[in-house]
Amino acid sequence: MRALCWQGPGEVAVERVPDPRIVNAQDAIVRVRLSATCGCDLRLIEGRYPAMQPGDVLGHEFVGEVVEVGPEVRRHCVGDRVVVCATISCGRCWYCRQGLYACCDNSDPNPELAEMAWGAAPAGGFGYSQTLGGFAGGHAEYVRVPYADQGAFRVPDEVSDGRAVLAAESAPAGWMAADLGGVRPGDVVAVWGCGAVGQLAARAAVLLGAERVICVDRLDDRLGLARREIGVETLHHGRADVGAELREGTGGRGPDVCVEAVGMAAQPSGSRPLGQRPRGAVEPSATVGEAIQACRKGGSVYVLGLFAGFVDTYPLGAALHKAVTVRAARQHGQRYLPALLERMRHGELRPEYLVTHRLPLAEAPRGYALFRERRDGCVRVAFTPDATTG
Ligand SMILES: NC(=O)c1ccc[n+]([C@@H]2O[C@H](COP(=O)([O-])OP(=O)(O)OC[C@H]3O[C@@H](n4cnc5c(N)ncnc54)[C@H](O)[C@@H]3O)[C@@H](O)[C@H]2O)c1
Ligand SMILES: [Zn+2]
Ligand SMILES: [Zn+2]
Repeated sequence: MRALCWQGPGEVAVERVPDPRIVNAQDAIVRVRLSATCGCDLRLIEGRYPAMQPGDVLGHEFVGEVVEVGPEVRRHCVGDRVVVCATISCGRCWYCRQGLYACCDNSDPNPELAEMAWGAAPAGGFGYSQTLGGFAGGHAEYVRVPYADQGAFRVPDEVSDGRAVLAAESAPAGWMAADLGGVRPGDVVAVWGCGAVGQLAARAAVLLGAERVICVDRLDDRLGLARREIGVETLHHGRADVGAELREGTGGRGPDVCVEAVGMAAQPSGSRPLGQRPRGAVEPSATVGEAIQACRKGGSVYVLGLFAGFVDTYPLGAALHKAVTVRAARQHGQRYLPALLERMRHGELRPEYLVTHRLPLAEAPRGYALFRERRDGCVRVAFTPDATTG
């Protein structure tokens, strides 16, 4: 089959790779109908996330059709149209039973790398480097889905592929930030980053009853999109004094909940992959710092943005003296997906407007260039493998 493979820092190409096959009894094979780009991929492609290997298949948001099931798969049959959670989780370990699916103890078959980097291995992930298990991703014609009963969710007939594809990661990530960030009716919520993830966090905050939601970004077209599609207020990061405006707009207090959906800022080309950086190297985290500085006393900051190692300029003093709760996580998607798909079915959540471009999988390298450069109003590019487009 054909798949989008990482070749080296900044280099991706569509290559022929072996078809996936059932390895464990709980696996399913899914024929991909649509897969989407994600901000995480930009960092993976740059080689700024540990242990990418040439040949790794990218892509962690995808919708497809089940074409084969292992003998222990109970909830899915051949022919089901499913969206697959980007986080791979067993559903049975202590962490999964607490709803902390992104912390699954069983789904990373190479835990040593993550243990070395972070002290313990989190859940595996599709197309997310050897550190998260080396699982082939969804920018492919077919994908092997481990723990299919836990990670694949049937898409209601009323929900299009373009709507459902963002349920794989962006929508549950945004929802998790609003939920675990503690958004309550009447709250003021500020969101840094107006990509798909930030906009879905903003929409989640609206649905959870926030009185005001303020989105912050540097791109006018994305800010415009957020105003039009979710009716939020916006601040331009380059032109406004974000901290001052947020304070002024909240009677001097600051937002109750701040969501960071930016992550590692882009770095000039020629940077070394993280694994090769000198010990103690740090990543910039300006937006995390800004969120903590802006947050009201006793408020909370939820970090969704991707960081791989150490960060600099982290204002621990402000967090401590203002009693700010700071949390961060990869999304525990299995916890939210059924309810999100219901909201999508009812039309409460219609994120398909974020899929601004569609291309055949064969043109995925061009799609990633468009996405990286944010050209032509690009927020997400979705790829259709030739197998489904005929
Ligand atoms: N925690 C999770 O489970 C999870 C899931 C998906 C994505 N992510 C991460 O969330 C982040 C956002 O993902 P995305 O797909 O929306 O990415 P994206 O690259 O499409 O969007 C990031 C946005 O941040 C904006 N930005 C850059 N610098 C900024 C600044 N200083 N202030 C405000 N905005 C700024 C960019 O203009 C862009 O619109 C990424 O780091 C991604 O890796 C995390
Ligand atoms: Zn992602
Ligand atoms: Zn588990």
